Amino acid sequence: MDTLNRIRFEAPDLNALGQDYTVVDFHFHSHYSDGADEVADIAQRARELGIGLAITDHNTIDGALELDGYDDLLTIPGIEVTSREGAHILVYFYRIDDLKAFYVDDIEPYKGPTVMSSIELDVESIIRRARKYNSVVIFPHPYSAAFTGICNHSFSDSQLHRLLGMADGVEVINSENLKRWNLKSALLGFNLDRAISGGSDGHSIQQMGMTVTYAACGRSRKAFLNAVRRKQAKVVGTESKLLKKIQSNGAKLKNSINNYPDLVEKNIRYGKSVIRFRTRKVAEKIWNRINDKHVKKAFYVVAGLTFIKINYNVLPLIIFALMKS
Ligand SMILES: [Fe+2]
Repeated sequence: MDTLNRIRFEAPDLNALGQDYTVVDFHFHSHYSDGADEVADIAQRARELGIGLAITDHNTIDGALELDGYDDLLTIPGIEVTSREGAHILVYFYRIDDLKAFYVDDIEPYKGPTVMSSIELDVESIIRRARKYNSVVIFPHPYSAAFTGICNHSFSDSQLHRLLGMADGVEVINSENLKRWNLKSALLGFNLDRAISGGSDGHSIQQMGMTVTYAACGRSRKAFLNAVRRKQAKVVGTESKLLKKIQSNGAKLKNSINNYPDLVEKNIRYGKSVIRFRTRKVAEKIWNRINDKHVKKAFYVVAGLTFIKINYNVLPLIIFALMKS
């Protein structure tokens, strides 16, 4: 396999790619979650672009089920689940019935008050439940500005390693994300040496196809998902321009307002974990700088004297205790 071009940051030439590869926008949203468009319009756009599509709505499958009815298109059944911790998880299925069963048994009973709310299950439980089916599990936008990526400060390094090991891979380019976070995600994809994927994460049809996953395989669900899972897929794409991001975020905002209490709670929780993480890092940095043993000794003496000075009223007691010992 040509590994040199496994991830490319550029606008995809969909016509040229379509000649030799099966091309799929692997991450897209409809009006059933926080997208702007009806499935009929989404399907029409995919047809015009000549690409396959996965509607991966947040915590609902109505869009994916409707898209499944378009027999002239390559469609991949999928869902983007919001874990209890806030991190998102993309789950793709070979069979539409498996998506339905996963949703009915493993997602619906644990849903929050709105479609965008976190479900009650944590990341680990969601992946374990997805593994009951023939599925492909991907962490979307692993690095992002908020808690929606798995590489956020809520998880310790050991937790993160375990969770990344449980998934098939990570999304390395997401058009809704910022370049700096996509670059980190791409690096993670290389370092992990697991499956990679990419998608527009579009919330309006103008964004469709800005990032795609493609593979030299048959034009079927099975062939495509196998190629992704076996690390044979490649990703090409770029970030949405500011104007498209604003349009897209307009659609998302409507749902964010409905989801306000859950978002506030998650932001506070995440804010606390970021503060804890940053404080620990600053303390580690200071301590690493004081690496000379003499400097460390001086540090202890000054800290001790400061303590005694602050507690001068207990000094006689300390001297008395020392004399007695
Ligand atoms: Fe998404």
